[in-house]
Amino acid sequence: MDAYRQLLAKTDPAVYAALIGEEKRQKAGIELIPSENYTYPEVLAVLGSVFTNKYSEGYPGRRYYGGQEFTDQIETLARDRAKTLFRGEHANVQPLSGSPMNQAVYFAVLKPGDTVLAMDLSHGGHLTHGAPVSHMGKVFNFVRYKTIPDRAGAIDFDALLKQAKDIRPKMVLCGFSSYPRDLDYKAFKRIADEVGALTMADVSHIGGLIAGNVLNNPLDAGFDFLTTTTHKSLRGPRGGLIVCKAVHAKAVDSSVFPGLQGGPHMNAVAGAAITFGKALEPAFQTYSKQVLSNARTLAKALMDRQVALVTGGTENHLMVMDVVKSLGLDGREAERVLDEVGITTNKQVIPDDPNPPLRPSGVRLGTPAATTRGMTERDMDRLGGWIADALRYRADATRIAGIKREVEAFCAAHPVPGLD
Ligand SMILES: Cc1ncc(COP(=O)(O)O)c(C=O)c1O
Repeated sequence: MDAYRQLLAKTDPAVYAALIGEEKRQKAGIELIPSENYTYPEVLAVLGSVFTNKYSEGYPGRRYYGGQEFTDQIETLARDRAKTLFRGEHANVQPLSGSPMNQAVYFAVLKPGDTVLAMDLSHGGHLTHGAPVSHMGKVFNFVRYKTIPDRAGAIDFDALLKQAKDIRPKMVLCGFSSYPRDLDYKAFKRIADEVGALTMADVSHIGGLIAGNVLNNPLDAGFDFLTTTTHKSLRGPRGGLIVCKAVHAKAVDSSVFPGLQGGPHMNAVAGAAITFGKALEPAFQTYSKQVLSNARTLAKALMDRQVALVTGGTENHLMVMDVVKSLGLDGREAERVLDEVGITTNKQVIPDDPNPPLRPSGVRLGTPAATTRGMTERDMDRLGGWIADALRYRADATRIAGIKREVEAFCAAHPVPGLD
């Protein structure tokens, strides 16, 4: 690896400088964006390997190009490990990322114009769950359900059943990007069964926590489809995974290829195989438990310092601070202040946010990346203090500089996998 880096430094100093800059950035600050993580050094190795050279359109044993001995081995390994990990009947590991992964499922079983019942975006749903700005929102008819933030983010399943009976969806979709709770998949499945709908859970954010057996698994509740990105709580390369019932296998596979994509990125598939293998080891369950415990501790540390959290806490790896309500600044400004002290977060809309998406009322935080770096409960308590103080005393330049210095020293003591 070092030889290749030296070569890059010589042949393309501009790209090399950006690489070094990003490495420094990832080491110097605390990463709290809940959808990010530090992948394994072994994954970094295969991402930069000769698998990137290979075209492998088709599936193992049924390719459109020769020379597939080793790519077939890799993809079969990845599929088998994914099925074991999520207790599913069929797996497709080829989606290039989370968005095409969800599109592939929609096009596998829906027709344009079909109705999908999905979580409201400001209550935690994702763009690919039918936002008007996404192509999917134009192709299918997405109808929204909401949560009850004042009741710890509960979903009113009686109201949901009534809504489902009114609109007769072809699919009931659950899953989220900014909902700090676990989901009752059995309740969703009962409603879907009553109206004859398919069930899909997009667990992109919590795929690792389900694999680590610390959150509910929708496939255990009889869901038709589970989709997850591989690069968030799973700690893998960027990519998408679909696990489904065997009855949907053919439709899903042909929807991914040739329906939506050409050749899979075999270097990423190799990285996914490694990731699923790691997630099957007992150490991953320990990691997943630590992610949850860190999130609970960080949430408490913030609430103890009078920072309001949407739904009043968390049951998973993420939380959303209502910074307008508790600190009198908007999410964009809060993100900037935290950046200044070396804590990376992202602005976030809160349920039925009166403010626009680029100046929303909230900030989203999550613990997978910090946990990968070895941070524990004690660190989360300090972190909560830095976040609350930086936001509250943002006009005090001396105080801000002091927090920045403490964060830098703290980060130096926590190695980054693949970099240290
Ligand atoms: C729930 C959910 N689904 C899908 C995606 C899309 O994934 P990608 O960014 O890899 O396209 C995301 C990404 O944030 C997500 O949170």
